[in-house]
Amino acid sequence: MLFDTHAHYYDGRFDSDRDELLAALPQRGVGLVLCPGCDLPSSRACVELAERFPHVYAAVGVHPSDCAGWDEAMLAQVRALAAHPKVKAIGEIGLDYYWKENPPKEFQQNVFRQQLELARELRLPVIVHDREAHGDCLAVVKEYPDVTGVFHCYSGSAEMARELVELGWYLGFDGPITYKNARKAPEVLAAVPLERMLVETDSPYLTPEPFRGRRNDSGYVYRVAETIAQAKGITPEEVAEITTANGKKLFCID
Ligand code: NI
Repeated sequence: MLFDTHAHYYDGRFDSDRDELLAALPQRGVGLVLCPGCDLPSSRACVELAERFPHVYAAVGVHPSDCAGWDEAMLAQVRALAAHPKVKAIGEIGLDYYWKENPPKEFQQNVFRQQLELARELRLPVIVHDREAHGDCLAVVKEYPDVTGVFHCYSGSAEMARELVELGWYLGFDGPITYKNARKAPEVLAAVPLERMLVETDSPYLTPEPFRGRRNDSGYVYRVAETIAQAKGITPEEVAEITTANGKKLFCID
């Protein structure tokens, strides 16, 4: 059984078949899904999906690309949403220096810090989005040694991966590790112990090979598990078993 720890099922690309797709996932080998929000409406939508489907859990938070309107009231609303019993993390939060139209770096860092403080207060793990901001993301999370979680869709170096593992973090892997041009992936997969890996899809984005071009969904997460299995020289079933156990442990799911 696989646990897709990162999928955005509130996305409009699922409007035509969301309920059937989610209901059928256990038959496709995916027994658990964690749906993280990117702003308040999507965080609310994740909580609603988690209420309706027993195998779906939620994370709530404000993504760096969506944080321009951040204020005290928004923080209060994230805190209120996080009180729901099926909310298992604060996320996705972090830094995104890729898009030039994103809020200034210092503003993003401030929003990231406030949500890390919230996670510490609520004793929840966090889901970190780090795009072209590796050094600053690492520096900010190190300010909160009692908060850990997952660096989702990990794209940093093998060296940074080792450091995160030492600090108690998990690393999430997605479709890009299946791409032929994924040069860093073998080195990173070798550096991270299986006990600290999570499998993710980031649906509807980042569809793994050989399905690139299609909309992604959790049913394709087995391709990520197969790629890790190949790198580690074990079976995909072992990867499924261990990464599912990792996800349940990190997100406190029985
Ligand atoms: Ni995401």
